[in-house]
Amino acid sequence: MKRIAVLTSGGDAPGMNAAIRAVVRVALSKGWQAFGVEHGYAGLISNEIRPLGPRDVGGIIQTGGTMLGSARSSEFKTPEGQHLALRHLAQHGIEGLFVIGGNGSQTGAHALHQRGFPVIGIASTIDNDLYGSDITLGVDTALNIAVEAIDRLKVTASSHTRAFLIEVMGRDCGYIAMMSGIAGGAESIVIPEVDTSPEQVAHELQAAYQRGKSHGIVVVAEGAKYNAEQLANYFKEHREEIGFELRTTQLGHVQRGGIPTVSDRLLGTEFGAHAVECMAQGQSGVLVGKINNQLTTTPHEQIAGKHRPVDPKLFELANVLAQ
Ligand code: F6P
Repeated sequence: MKRIAVLTSGGDAPGMNAAIRAVVRVALSKGWQAFGVEHGYAGLISNEIRPLGPRDVGGIIQTGGTMLGSARSSEFKTPEGQHLALRHLAQHGIEGLFVIGGNGSQTGAHALHQRGFPVIGIASTIDNDLYGSDITLGVDTALNIAVEAIDRLKVTASSHTRAFLIEVMGRDCGYIAMMSGIAGGAESIVIPEVDTSPEQVAHELQAAYQRGKSHGIVVVAEGAKYNAEQLANYFKEHREEIGFELRTTQLGHVQRGGIPTVSDRLLGTEFGAHAVECMAQGQSGVLVGKINNQLTTTPHEQIAGKHRPVDPKLFELANVLAQ
């Protein structure tokens, strides 16, 4: 009988629970024993490992966050932290680990694989910036939350003939900003991948104002060269350049909470189940993701140091549509 463990690491993402549930129940269906590691890699170091039965993962598919808890562990980046983690895994007789998380978490998974421990990663981050998967767990829910916020802000903006700077998450990646900006019908989108000056944003808002629009929506990625606060500071001094009166809203962590969408529940389920099948076939050191809508595995060593780029054609299209 094989003994496996699952952990969630880094920023929580809606759909993680669906993935935990699938890993545990598919593993149990094979006659394996399943364990959960609490608080990500930090929990491996502090030996927070407990058995998980089918009932332990009941009633979680519809919940956001992660039932196992998550953390960002700097200690795990050290050889000492990794040795301690391996010692605790051995203590529980665990022979394989599933790591549900984004870039940093997959780097940790790669490190354990390099030390000879069987690990399979599951692509999960609201940022959707993981090389090796077109889509990551949580981004669909985060986008839906961002678009709902944009829709709501557009209503109040129109009532007052105002512009809004709406800052969304994404770390150094503009995916959430670009996609929510397109789906929310933004007048301007500012992302880290494309150099955009405050003068350019001012020009786009002024043009919208002169065309008679009652609102000006600017979706700004938190990692852009000029984030929402910096743009707002610029516009304080250049109010006449934009026509509209201006307000700023930072969505922040609200994008990570809440009920996972159907897409994220299904994706988590597919990823989790596929990851267990891959381990059953003896795979290790790979990330489970989706490319061209097909479940895939990509070696962790190919992922290291890379990010999935945003589609420049979609960014151009967003500009055309903002007329
Ligand atoms: O990686 C997910 C993410 O939500 C990023 O979009 C954001 O920059 C970061 O995590 C925030 O991290 P924390 O939750 O540690 O503040």
